[in-house]
Amino acid sequence: MTRILIIDDDESLCRVIAHQLKQMGFRVEIALSGEEGLRKFKSGDHEVILSDINMPGMTGMEVLREVRKIDKNIIFIIITAYGSVDGAVEASKIGADDYLIKPFGKEAMRFVIEKALQFRQLRQENRRLKMEVSTKFGFERLVGRSPVMETLIQMATRVALSDSTVFIFGESGTGKELLARAIHVNSPRKNGPFVTVNCPSIPEQLIESELFGHVKGAFTGAMKDRQGKFEMANGGTLFLDEIGDLKVDLQAKLLRVLQEREIERVGENRPISVDVRIVAATNKNLDQMVAEGSFREDLYYRLRVLPIEIPPLRERREDIVPLVHHFIQKHGNGVKYKIDPDVLTFLEAYDWPGNVRELENVIERVIVLSPDQRISSNLLAQEVRTGKGTRAFSAVPRETLPEIEKQAIENALQKSHGNKTRAAEFLGIPRHVLLYRMKKYEVGVNVK
Ligand SMILES: Nc1ncnc2c1ncn2[C@@H]1O[C@H](COP(=O)(O)OP(=O)(O)OP(=O)(O)O)[C@@H](O)[C@H]1O
Ligand SMILES: [Mg+2]
Repeated sequence: MTRILIIDDDESLCRVIAHQLKQMGFRVEIALSGEEGLRKFKSGDHEVILSDINMPGMTGMEVLREVRKIDKNIIFIIITAYGSVDGAVEASKIGADDYLIKPFGKEAMRFVIEKALQFRQLRQENRRLKMEVSTKFGFERLVGRSPVMETLIQMATRVALSDSTVFIFGESGTGKELLARAIHVNSPRKNGPFVTVNCPSIPEQLIESELFGHVKGAFTGAMKDRQGKFEMANGGTLFLDEIGDLKVDLQAKLLRVLQEREIERVGENRPISVDVRIVAATNKNLDQMVAEGSFREDLYYRLRVLPIEIPPLRERREDIVPLVHHFIQKHGNGVKYKIDPDVLTFLEAYDWPGNVRELENVIERVIVLSPDQRISSNLLAQEVRTGKGTRAFSAVPRETLPEIEKQAIENALQKSHGNKTRAAEFLGIPRHVLLYRMKKYEVGVNVK
């Protein structure tokens, strides 16, 4: 039952309204001054306040201001004896939902209250929908719905809601950072900061200060106090990328922070508590590093509370075609491209050692090279076409005669396992011609 609080210094009016509202099925309380109203509001759980404006002592405006500091959603309806529309306009500016001019009838009152209740419901519904959209947004950026990715995203959605440390494993380019961000966006910390630390990119002597900050004069060059990434991420998520590259002494310091949830800036002995959710990622095999003694076992176990492994692209080939379409859209400036069917066949068959990032690079380059909004297989690099999956790789077409020749020589040498006599036979040329061309094109430097 909706609870209504009436605030008015006119006691008989209060009684009349209260009686009418009770008949309509509301639960009603009365306060005969602004002060009393505020007190009752604080101790009750009303959904609607009907308040007079002009009262001795605290005015209706003042009550409204105080109420709004505490509750932004309660419906506040002003009742005024003066019919002062200005007052009502002002009231709506400071946050009243509606107003009633005395004397008002029962039905007018019912109408205003019900309208406000409906409006509030819509507003809440709207907020919920918006939340849902923003929630989905995070994981929707991860294209590809192969069964493994579907399961992974379901798990990550649940993981996001907790505050525990997440550890993302996966080869280079599998989307670890994208997933880390999606987890943040879907977590209760989504309005807080998302701060990334890329461990290997920071010079060794600076990383401690980068993580924990420093005070002025802590070392040469420390001109003033500086916040570290842990402090910057306070209330949000700290993404420790490539954690496998962290030096052993820093691993010890990180472990302590994860245990104590406190940091100390370099050059200072004052602990600062930090409220940070950690997401760590690596493309290294940390099990092996732990076994070899280059990564602390205790830190490893503290980090891998919720491990998530993103499989390489070659183990979820169903994701390739959707990713191709996604990247064409992303890099194609809205232009519609026609893709020859054999292109998709090649792309699906290729092993993608550089995973999604490599696929994205290929699509980006192919789009640049495509002369007529058509993507044909001659735009794909040889490696993709032959499915060799070597790492050094480009989507530049090898179409000039010397380039084709060079490629043919490389292929022949590969087929003959480096045996030049046999390679020359494959190519149908004398051995000395092969040797000459190998020198000319600088191929087979490592070949016997
Ligand atoms: N499922 C996906 N959907 C759309 N884009 C993706 C997906 N996975 C990865 N990408 C894109 O591929 C690129 C590489 O992703 P990301 O940087 O997250 O990978 P990573 O695993 O952190 O790589 P590295 O180990 O090299 O740092 C980014 O441009 C990212 O947007
Ligand atoms: Mg990364």
